[in-house]
Amino acid sequence: MTITPSAQADVATLAPQRVLFVPPAPRPLREPPDLFGFLRGARANPLETWTEAHFEQPILAGRGVLGRVTVLSDPAAIRHVLVENARNYRKDDLQRRVLAPGLGNGLLTAEGDEWRRQRRAMASLFTPRQVAAFAPAMDDAALKLVRRWRRRGEGSRLDVAAEMTRVTLDVLERTIFTQGLARDPDALGRVITRYFDAIGPVDPLDVFGLPEWLPRIGRLRARPALRFFEEIVDELIATRRELVASGRPAPRDLLTLLLEARDPETGDPLSEIEVKANIVTFIGAGHETTANALSWSIYLLGQDRVVRERVEAEVDEALASASAAEALDRLVLTRAVVDEAVRLYPPAPFMSRAAIGDDRIGPYRIPAGSLVMIAPYVLHRHRRLWDRPDAFDPERFLPGRRESIDRFAYLPFGAGPRVCIGASFSLTEATIVLARVVQGTRLELEPGHDVKPVQRVTLRPSGGLPMRLALR
Ligand code: HEM
Repeated sequence: MTITPSAQADVATLAPQRVLFVPPAPRPLREPPDLFGFLRGARANPLETWTEAHFEQPILAGRGVLGRVTVLSDPAAIRHVLVENARNYRKDDLQRRVLAPGLGNGLLTAEGDEWRRQRRAMASLFTPRQVAAFAPAMDDAALKLVRRWRRRGEGSRLDVAAEMTRVTLDVLERTIFTQGLARDPDALGRVITRYFDAIGPVDPLDVFGLPEWLPRIGRLRARPALRFFEEIVDELIATRRELVASGRPAPRDLLTLLLEARDPETGDPLSEIEVKANIVTFIGAGHETTANALSWSIYLLGQDRVVRERVEAEVDEALASASAAEALDRLVLTRAVVDEAVRLYPPAPFMSRAAIGDDRIGPYRIPAGSLVMIAPYVLHRHRRLWDRPDAFDPERFLPGRRESIDRFAYLPFGAGPRVCIGASFSLTEATIVLARVVQGTRLELEPGHDVKPVQRVTLRPSGGLPMRLALR
């Protein structure tokens, strides 16, 4: 498997005067890997197990280690599975087994009536109005980050991936627990990072569906980190419950909203366990995904001077007399950079579903129990769906061109009833943070560093993203 090194990246020409940057990605395999190759790839970097056919064919059905699998990159077929016949599909055991030990039965992993009840109760948490109310807290976190970088000074070396994890955790702390953590906030960040590092690689025991009681090394390693993390969350919920019960005004953050959430059909609140599972879910599903979206955006901007200068001009003008939270509507190209970054490097690179009953998609039979895979990483670079699929071209997301993108060809946040509940939260956050970073700094990739995308639950730059800081 070869990775195109960034220093020698290919270039493509969209218009005669415009050379587009083609960022690094694993070269697809000519042939499907054998069993050993697949397992090695699944553990080391699942991005390296896709074949050329996946990027060229709309639908590929086959039998492999995971039984019968149908990979869908046809927008109409995807709409069928995620929307029209969504009730016939559930999140499959592989995805649940990999995520559930950490995320409990929160919204991401719950199924059936339990999921429907939770989703109804939580609909009010992420409305556009509510997300807009969180935007100033996002801006404060972004300003704090840039101030800290300015103190480090011109020419210092930053691991932008680690910095983005820090700022997205800061945003979650400010929007979930406004009153902050009793302990050192960085301690929580370290615990979460250790936890995701430990459960990150897919355990071969999970691929084969071996019983839960067999110990998985990754999970054993994750256990102390998880326990410590849960203790902190317990403490925060208990303190907030006391405050709410005391009748004193409680902050309007996600924790209070979760404690107040009611199923509109029954009036029932979320149980104690559900509140906790969803706090953990918001942190787990929301911090590293958004951090990766930001890291890739900053990396891509650092490689394309033309786009960077245009984003700088947009940001300078928009933020001259308004906060980033107020100026969101004017940060159009900044937002398009984020959209393009999560097209090329979707933080959640694949989704899978198991068919509950038999189904048919065109000529393809989907037998009950078989697996259907939708991989945004493949879909977003599919040769039949995109013009210059591997090139960085944020302008494709600007008004005028954006309308021609099929809703089901672009799925960084999924689609249908199980679409990401945090999508607009995350896009608002990423746009604000990117705008503040561009306003205050100019970041260049550390010379000689090869960027390599790797999938470890989320899609991130392997070994971090070392960059040099220049101040603006
Ligand atoms: C760039 C950032 C993010 C990306 C790329 C992302 C991606 C996704 C995707 C693809 C799904 C659907 C999975 C499937 O259908 O199998 C999903 C679901 C979900 N996401 Fe996100 N997400 C992001 C940020 C967030 C944030 C910030 C939060 C919460 C604060 C969040 C919470 C959730 C939850 C709870 C679900 C499950 C929804 C359900 O099943 O009803 N995500 N996300």
